[in-house]
Amino acid sequence: MLILTWHGHACFTIEAEGRRVIIDPFLTGNPAADIGLEQLSKIDAVLLSHGHGDHLGDALAIAARDRPTVVTTYELATFCETRGAAVHKMHLGGAHAFPWGRVKLVPAFHGGGIDSDDAGRYPVTPCGLVVTMGGKTVYHTGDTALTTEMQLLEGRVDVMLLPIGDNYTMGIDDAVRAVDFVRPQIAIPMHYNTWDVIKADPQEFRRKVGGRADVVVLQPGQSLKHS
Ligand code: NI
Ligand code: MN
Repeated sequence: MLILTWHGHACFTIEAEGRRVIIDPFLTGNPAADIGLEQLSKIDAVLLSHGHGDHLGDALAIAARDRPTVVTTYELATFCETRGAAVHKMHLGGAHAFPWGRVKLVPAFHGGGIDSDDAGRYPVTPCGLVVTMGGKTVYHTGDTALTTEMQLLEGRVDVMLLPIGDNYTMGIDDAVRAVDFVRPQIAIPMHYNTWDVIKADPQEFRRKVGGRADVVVLQPGQSLKHS
């Protein structure tokens, strides 16, 4: 069993068997976040899809507070290491088994660059994260366009977390096609309504997905228990 909690935007925690990981921990400065960093319980690992500020977020602060392992692409992990974080460096196509679960990095089509890397020394390839914990597999697409690479995950995903906000990422219609590509049991929309420019109606997404998957629309702070 796993417990998946949305903290607004692209930030989720996943808990299973007493371990807790956080993906794209954007709490400070996130208008949609339900908690601040001080309300966040102890974290065993921080998983990052890319280096933009709305995903890197509080990663370095959590790294300093709880000493979790920061798991992400080689270049972004190296950047975090230079800022004092304990890291595990991976890259696209690679998987690794950690004590708390398995992570595989998969392609995402989006921009590189790390907010706060002022010298621009660490160009980043954005990724999606396929995380297996508590016997279930969660696919967090990261920020991405619709891409046919997603078809490679068909039938391998229990819960898909995907953007519907448009402008920077897929909008609703492309997200529906992404669900069609992957065929998860459950799809949860993210990366919308944080700001006006990514305003979207999750009920429209639900309607358009139809019978392809169960769409679960979470409010920030709400959890999905899946067993
Ligand atoms: Ni981004
Ligand atoms: Mn983003």
